[in-house]
Amino acid sequence: MRKPMIRSLIVVLAASACSGARVAPSASATAPRTLTSPADRFADSVLALLSLEEKVGQLTMSPAEGLQTGPHVPQGSAAQVKQGLIGSIIGVTGVARIRAMQRVAVEESPHRIPLLFSLDVIHGYRTNFPVPLAEAASFDPALAEADARIAADEATANGIVWNFAPMVDIARDPRWGRIVEGAGEEPYVGSVFAAARVRGFQGAHLSDSASMLATAKHFVGYGASEGGRDYATAEISERTFWETYIPPFKSAIDAGVGAVMPAFSAVNGSPPHASAWMLRDVLRERLGFKGVVVSDWSALEELLPHGVAGTRGDAAKLGIRAGVDVDMADHVYSDSLAFYARTDSALRRDIDASVLNVLRAKYALGLFADPYHGASEARASRVTLSAAHVAAARTAAREAIVLLKNERSTLPLRRDIKSLAVIGELAADARSSLGPWSIAGRASDEVTVLDGLRNANPSMEVRYAPGAHAGGADTSRVHDAEEVARGADAIVLVLGEDGERTGEAESRASIELPFAQMQLAQRITRLAGSKPLVVVLMNGRPLAIPWIADSVPAIVEGWYLGTTHGDAIADVLFGAYSPGGKLPVTFPRATGQVPEYLAHMNTGRPTNPKDKYTTGYNDLSPAPLYPFGFGLSYSAFRYAAPRVSRDSIRARDSLSVAITVSNVGARDADEVVQLYLRDDVASVARPVKQLVRFRRVHLRTGASETVTFTLGAQDLAFYDLHLRRVVEPGTFTLFAGTSSASTQEAHFTVTGDTLVLADPPPRMQ
Ligand code: BGC
Repeated sequence: MRKPMIRSLIVVLAASACSGARVAPSASATAPRTLTSPADRFADSVLALLSLEEKVGQLTMSPAEGLQTGPHVPQGSAAQVKQGLIGSIIGVTGVARIRAMQRVAVEESPHRIPLLFSLDVIHGYRTNFPVPLAEAASFDPALAEADARIAADEATANGIVWNFAPMVDIARDPRWGRIVEGAGEEPYVGSVFAAARVRGFQGAHLSDSASMLATAKHFVGYGASEGGRDYATAEISERTFWETYIPPFKSAIDAGVGAVMPAFSAVNGSPPHASAWMLRDVLRERLGFKGVVVSDWSALEELLPHGVAGTRGDAAKLGIRAGVDVDMADHVYSDSLAFYARTDSALRRDIDASVLNVLRAKYALGLFADPYHGASEARASRVTLSAAHVAAARTAAREAIVLLKNERSTLPLRRDIKSLAVIGELAADARSSLGPWSIAGRASDEVTVLDGLRNANPSMEVRYAPGAHAGGADTSRVHDAEEVARGADAIVLVLGEDGERTGEAESRASIELPFAQMQLAQRITRLAGSKPLVVVLMNGRPLAIPWIADSVPAIVEGWYLGTTHGDAIADVLFGAYSPGGKLPVTFPRATGQVPEYLAHMNTGRPTNPKDKYTTGYNDLSPAPLYPFGFGLSYSAFRYAAPRVSRDSIRARDSLSVAITVSNVGARDADEVVQLYLRDDVASVARPVKQLVRFRRVHLRTGASETVTFTLGAQDLAFYDLHLRRVVEPGTFTLFAGTSSASTQEAHFTVTGDTLVLADPPPRMQ
């Protein structure tokens, strides 16, 4: 009797699923759950049909055979799909394979419930865009949204409906390899990009065939892992937790993100996968999240080595009680949850609630109406790596490039140079320029720096020498590189880190360049003399390169730019495009200076190089190598002093700040106008400067534009001693300019009483 029943339900409700369950907007996110929505009614009806084992099946995500993005896990799931004991799959690629598996689920499994096919589509599917840190350097959230839409179009055409992105972890420690996956160090940038990427992946309606479920990860504090060591514990004060790490998640949730993934790392001793405080009190109650919580890869099983679960059974109970809906990869739930739940009604209630979350997500995606979500071979071959997508990737790649130094107008290079030496192993390393976390991307699609420079100027002779291995100490090939450099009119030296040496499980104890690359850099620089020499960096984290910053005339931060990496670098080096990106993360001078970030609190002895008894080191300049927000242009910009609309406001009021910027250089170019804030005197120490607004503008040479930003109570608020979110009366300083270190000030005063915007959140457990 069960099958006909669900079939008829599907028929009745298919139309509404097709017409599109709207992505939950922020306003409705906190509304109490009612059974009035079609999604709720549908999910409840399906739930009523399932046995306990089948319910746990909906909570089970199985990995594709052969896939491994973490410790080894059990494999093989085809038989379980047929039995209805699996709800989602991670890592199957290929539209034919996905359609075949889905067909089994919807035609041969007991209740014909469609599977969710999931993947990490971090910076593109087959067409790859700049890695997320690089895309944040564009300071162009509309670009990130558009690129995420393209990624969703390609991924869904190929059968993927659930994406484990965006990563919205704030990261202030470049030793942590996963800094490459996020938007950098500033909560405001992180929040803006989190929302943009969620909108891009999910589109206006999840049921649209080009939309996929996004996942905000890793909730929360993963970026604060001690020493930058991946998976290590994190110690975060309550105020910092709310002020720095929560905002990008709040922003993703307000944008309607459908899923959240908890972090691997224990926060203040409590692993998030076992923390009801984090996943229920904070995530659902305080932040209003209504979607699916999916565990990270084998993270439930890892509650054992964390030392908070004694057995896999304990881990299963801890996870479901904490609020982890879906168990990724380790089969901890499927092993024993049904067994325990038979005699535990509270556990059964938790299981039911989690299954409903999964069924509602399937419904919102329209899978009960079209289990294939529009994926087909024909659509896949039409959209995957289409010319329009590759063109968009090139636009994004250009915007992400940051010009760090350009002495003696070394750049752009003259187009009439006869011969160019391209040095450095990374210049020809297609896999690296694609960047980490590119599962469907192919090195064979890639334009390397070497390819790009050759394409840009076919009449120029380009000679290449690898010089040194990117990660090693072997200098035996440096001599050959010197020979190549000696005979050329100009030299492009590509330095940095191998694309596989950044990302997950790629922490570094030293962010300096390895020995062989430094030797190469020093010998090529010495040889170059007055010949144009450009260092192009390829990296996914800030690098400490003080010698290069001092000694090389031109430095371009080229990150990992995706499919069109080399074309974009060539566009900048030969001047077809004037770079306009800015650093979304501070570059320190040495690893020992980490963490070094803009929005640090002031101290009682603020840094003063002339006074020994102030904050800093006795063996290092106190300033970062390159500050947050820094980036040069081929043009030049002049800022007028910022003007505030009012000198004095009450805490509830808003004010606007007008910033006029003029392009006084010889090139049409982009500039990122930045606005920072400081609360001068408050009841707790406040950051010396925090970013509150930015806008990327394009200005023709000679043109001016006035950018107006409006600030309100939410921008001025902070967490006070009692963790209330307040705006206190007093003076504030605004800083406007081209980078955090080059600003002009304006001031205003907030009068009246303290305004309480929110009561304290649930206390940390
Ligand atoms: C990562 C997640 C990722 C998952 C699935 C884990 O190792 O921490 O970010 O989504 O693997 O690939």
